[in-house]
Amino acid sequence: TQTLTILGLESSCDDTAAAVVRQNGDNLPDILSSVVFGQNELHSAYGGVVPEIAARAHAEKLDVCVRDALTGSGLALADLDAIAVTAGPGLIGGVMSGVMCAKGIAAATGLPLVGVNHLAGHALTPRLTDAIAYPYLMLLVSGGHCQYLIARGPEDFTRLGGTIDDAPGEAFDKTARLLGLPQPGGPAVQAEAEIGNAKRFRFPRPMLDRPDCNLSFSGLKTALMRMRDQVAAEKGGLTRQDRADLCAGFQAAVVDVLVEKTRRAIRLYLEENPAIPTVAVAGGVAANTAIRAGLETACAEMGAVFTAPPLHLCTDNAAMIAYAGLERFRAGARDGMDLTARPRWPL
Ligand code: KG4
Ligand code: ZN
Repeated sequence: TQTLTILGLESSCDDTAAAVVRQNGDNLPDILSSVVFGQNELHSAYGGVVPEIAARAHAEKLDVCVRDALTGSGLALADLDAIAVTAGPGLIGGVMSGVMCAKGIAAATGLPLVGVNHLAGHALTPRLTDAIAYPYLMLLVSGGHCQYLIARGPEDFTRLGGTIDDAPGEAFDKTARLLGLPQPGGPAVQAEAEIGNAKRFRFPRPMLDRPDCNLSFSGLKTALMRMRDQVAAEKGGLTRQDRADLCAGFQAAVVDVLVEKTRRAIRLYLEENPAIPTVAVAGGVAANTAIRAGLETACAEMGAVFTAPPLHLCTDNAAMIAYAGLERFRAGARDGMDLTARPRWPL
């Protein structure tokens, strides 16, 4: 069995990351190093990620990331088998920075280049951490994406359904903005929700009247705005507790919808597959403890094994890119110097 060692680069949104992952045959892979430089401070004043600022910061930080990831792994470039890089989807400037950096290293060292779909990186994370076998059912929930997938191979995904408007992370971020909480909104809203009363405000549960596993989150934002304005008008402003109760009500609605749609995704999966699937969740929103707990309970009730990567591998990182690249490389995939950044790239 062949041992492969891959350097991965990630720069598709607001994290600059590099990591070295090694796998010996079918053994559980080792993350030899994983470095993430977040850009939250750079964007916080603007209430969201500014693409131009992100691209510049990626270009400045990638070298340092690569150096630190190599140092952390104890390896030199000569010990690597390939360079994997996120080639999309994402913000074009950031993706280009990463692809350029990877091409530079490949040109200087002669190492093969493997372009990786960022979503495939998230979707394969359960195999990086838990050696989950194909096929499995995947819920991908992040700031830009929300979909149910059957993962059958490193480049073989079937989409069962997904959001028809906002992604849940986007809904968390907008909720935070509407309530004056910091970005990224997910962790801030979760922290408020923990001290809030989820029963005080009644949020809708969008799309539950439909049998499929499509979702919608933009209505929650509208509902939140209405309730916020009503309370503010009655009391002349929002108290900390009002905010916490709004966050708790919003989060409970997201949990309910994701839990029920996951049940439906399992049923859909069973229409074409003989056995109850392992259900995995990944993407930044999978860091939410209430969502994880809800999914865990629902899966247990249906007899499905539930798995979620550790929190630091749910949010953007390069270990997942190195690993997805490793699987592609093992399957024979190679990209050339004509590898391009693809801002839109569905799985
Ligand atoms: O996967 P990710 O790091 O970036 C992409 O979107 O690709 O996900 C970031 C998103 C943000 O919208 C952030 O608010 C959300 O994940 N997020 C959370 C939590 N932590 C991060 N959402 C809910 N609860 C959390 N604890
Ligand atoms: Zn992501």
